[in-house]
Amino acid sequence: MSQDGFRAGEIDTSRPHPARIYDYLLGGKDHYEVDQQAGDRLAAVAPEVFIGVRANRDFLRRAVQHIVGGGVRQILDIGTGLPTSPNVHEIAHAVAPDVRVAYVDNDPIVKAHADALLGRTGETSVVLADLRDPRAIVDHPDVRRVIDFDEPVAVLLVAIFHFLTDAEQPAQVVATLRDALPAGSFLVLSHATGDFADRTEAQAVYRDATATMNLRSRAEVERLFAGFELVEPGVVQVPYWRPDTEPPTGSDTIGFYGGVARKTD
Ligand SMILES: C[S@@+](CC[C@H](N)C(=O)[O-])C[C@H]1O[C@@H](n2cnc3c(N)ncnc32)[C@H](O)[C@@H]1O
Repeated sequence: MSQDGFRAGEIDTSRPHPARIYDYLLGGKDHYEVDQQAGDRLAAVAPEVFIGVRANRDFLRRAVQHIVGGGVRQILDIGTGLPTSPNVHEIAHAVAPDVRVAYVDNDPIVKAHADALLGRTGETSVVLADLRDPRAIVDHPDVRRVIDFDEPVAVLLVAIFHFLTDAEQPAQVVATLRDALPAGSFLVLSHATGDFADRTEAQAVYRDATATMNLRSRAEVERLFAGFELVEPGVVQVPYWRPDTEPPTGSDTIGFYGGVARKTD
């Protein structure tokens, strides 16, 4: 048993995990055969998924550069995923070396890999916790060790909310996080959608996985930003959020919305 209370045996290699499917789609090495099979099934029914995950990652990079460039020095990255170069702290530190990052994920394998990469440093922490219990995240001692909730925080919820069902009350989850943040904080959120193609078959791939895929429309994704002020250009397909290079061919088909918003009071 680790200090966070999970057992190695909880790493389930018989069912696909979102973090490991995503790792496979990004070309990583930290996945099992079940995850690769799920990724291949996904690509067969939603061929844009490979450029989609890259575009999502690029959106994350641009959003972090934008917010850290604007002076924010703390990042709470919930649903961090398996380490992928460049990681959030690397993106942030390239802009400002004093940024502190708390990584949160509910998958023990993500924590194990992130711990191995980061060790225990003063500027980062890796926490095993679940977005469905946002209060536990905000109150977690290893989050509090690096994040001071009296100073602006960038909360990253990138490609995670679609793993929450409506019954898990996504709006309430964001509200709890928002209420813990001071003015000047940011929310970065991306979310899978079926607005650009029928993605029923892609959703079905996640039926056997450890989390379901809950696609949402643009209006539904915009509502998740309630209580924040969206920065330009608002909620758009991820390649079109402040691109710094030409968006890849096929960007119009990418089923990921993204947006960045600021808490003003
Ligand atoms: C698709 S990956 C996204 C990784 C990264 N945020 C990115 O966009 O590149 C989704 C991550 O969210 C995590 N996740 C899914 N549901 C979660 C939950 N309820 N609480 C915490 N983490 C969760 C998964 O384990 C996975 O690592």
